[in-house]
Amino acid sequence: MCGIVGYVGNSSRKEAGHSALDVVVEGLRRLEYRGYDSAGVAVVADGSISSRKKSGKLSNLIAELEADPVPESLTGIGHTRWATHGGPTDQNAHPHLSDGGRLAVIHNGIIENFAELKQELLAKGVVFASETDTEVAAALIGDIFRTEFDGDGANLTQAMRLACQRLEGAFTLLAVHADQPDVVVAARRNSPLVVGLGDGENFLGSDVSGFIDYTRRAVELGQDQIVTITAESVDITDFFGKPAEGKEYHVDWDPASAEKGGFSSFMEKEIHDQPDAVAQTLLGRSDLDGKLTLDEVRIDPELLKQVNKIIVLACGTAAYAGLVAKYAIENWCRIPTEVELAHEFRYRDPIVDSNTLVVSISQSGETMDTLMAVRYAREQGAKTISICNTNGSTIPRESDAVLYTHAGPEIAVASTKAFLAQITAAYLLGLYLAQLRGNIFSGQIKDVLADLSKIPAKIQHILDGAGPLRELARSMKDEKSVLFLGRHVGYPVALEGALKLKEIAYIHAEGFAAGELKHGPIALIDDGQPVFVVVPSPRGRDSLHSKVVSNIQEVRARGARTLVIAEEGDESVKDYAEHVFYVPETPTLLMPLLTTVPLQIFAAELAGAKGYDVDQPRNLAKSVTVE
Ligand code: M6R
Repeated sequence: MCGIVGYVGNSSRKEAGHSALDVVVEGLRRLEYRGYDSAGVAVVADGSISSRKKSGKLSNLIAELEADPVPESLTGIGHTRWATHGGPTDQNAHPHLSDGGRLAVIHNGIIENFAELKQELLAKGVVFASETDTEVAAALIGDIFRTEFDGDGANLTQAMRLACQRLEGAFTLLAVHADQPDVVVAARRNSPLVVGLGDGENFLGSDVSGFIDYTRRAVELGQDQIVTITAESVDITDFFGKPAEGKEYHVDWDPASAEKGGFSSFMEKEIHDQPDAVAQTLLGRSDLDGKLTLDEVRIDPELLKQVNKIIVLACGTAAYAGLVAKYAIENWCRIPTEVELAHEFRYRDPIVDSNTLVVSISQSGETMDTLMAVRYAREQGAKTISICNTNGSTIPRESDAVLYTHAGPEIAVASTKAFLAQITAAYLLGLYLAQLRGNIFSGQIKDVLADLSKIPAKIQHILDGAGPLRELARSMKDEKSVLFLGRHVGYPVALEGALKLKEIAYIHAEGFAAGELKHGPIALIDDGQPVFVVVPSPRGRDSLHSKVVSNIQEVRARGARTLVIAEEGDESVKDYAEHVFYVPETPTLLMPLLTTVPLQIFAAELAGAKGYDVDQPRNLAKSVTVE
């Protein structure tokens, strides 16, 4: 959600052709994937602030800037807004101005006590132009700047500190002031912010994509910290002015990996990145003897041996990866494993203690619901491991250990490669726990790792043979509803297949556990109703395969069009399927890494055929940083 960029450069940067506006607009372009419905910028030049903002796509803002340019500047901020308080209008877009138009503020998050602060400021005669909580924060900072410091130009940082002491909720705030033209001040509580370190210039971004074209040196701002950047300095303190250290790290994503690479959309590219995403996530995590070497899991092995319950916390697609993890972990480790939507978890007084291991799964590492649930679990004494794709993000930093998925940047809002990488990492974690606790023999672990190592080539095989599936998807672009069925690990795959179609093609879609069909959902089956069925390997448990084949027959008997995903060589489904899409042979537990892929391709192709923006579906944000 909301993308944030800040920039300050010195005159040498101007000679190198950098301008605040160019840097900020380019950063916003890279952050578009987070989802937004308006955009705006502000630059400091000639002793005043110049700001432009527009609802809709970044292209609207760029057109506005062409029609009404801002002056050349080396200090600027930019924002893409995902509406929370107030609709996606020009008025509500950021930046918001205060102190007579001399202060500009952008914000990501929600100021929970904005109503109370607004009353206070209204009583002082402040006039508001928007419906946003952000304008209240801007007015508060402006009021403090003017009244506490009498507009002393050196005190934007101080004003930000005092304001933050009064703000409740989640926020990343960036402010520039005409009186202090070479400075951007930012604050962070519960929302992400990264500092980019340059030479004669410094940057701020919601994530590193905001400045990846200019530097790979980054510092993650900690919780409740304020940073003041100039072209030559980066000063970090807490909200009370106590100096704080920022830990620098190197960003190993390159700008090219954040580009489409010739594909029609980021989603298509990311679907094709999946062989690599799985391979990279496996890389270096076991030795030649098939022993897992998860060095990142720094939790004392003795404590892990005492774990008597695992709770997986996640949202959306990541929660479906968690459901797959449950089957694998329980199978290999014999530890009861619950999977819970993170936003439900802490509101139900869950049973968590020091023998509970909480595994959070999050691509972004910034999902507020997941972060809050992890914090709650830690407070209750649980050990926490994060499976995450974003280096240095908040959830792994606040967890006891992290297992990074090495899927590379995921730009499309609809998650694809992160899902497969999350499942892969969860398998590794399950095997590691089983190894530690002696649940399975090392030979078995070696076998599973060998099966996993063959997955990337098998995914590639599916991608290469997807022509007929794509054709079918295009022919189904006018469908009103598609159902998805699966059992065992096929159930989360069915849920994920349905979610993909809802998200990007805006088609009603539902995933069901196939066994649940007779308990209600079968009433939905009517003549011509398309139903995808994810069929397990016939080489696995007999009953599992035959039960799903019976489910295919049941829906077909009631008029459904059956679209079946099955293992190569499974002839038994042919008689009951209008279309069969085969995936290469693999053990049942690992099948989601293959059976998901056709469903992703189907959704992307169908949404493309409908002419939709596959990468930025309506109403959705990549990273849900509000509760
Ligand atoms: O960044 P996270 O993995 O924590 O995000 C969780 C969900 O918001 C995310 O998976 C969402 O469901 C995707 N849009 C699914 O495609």
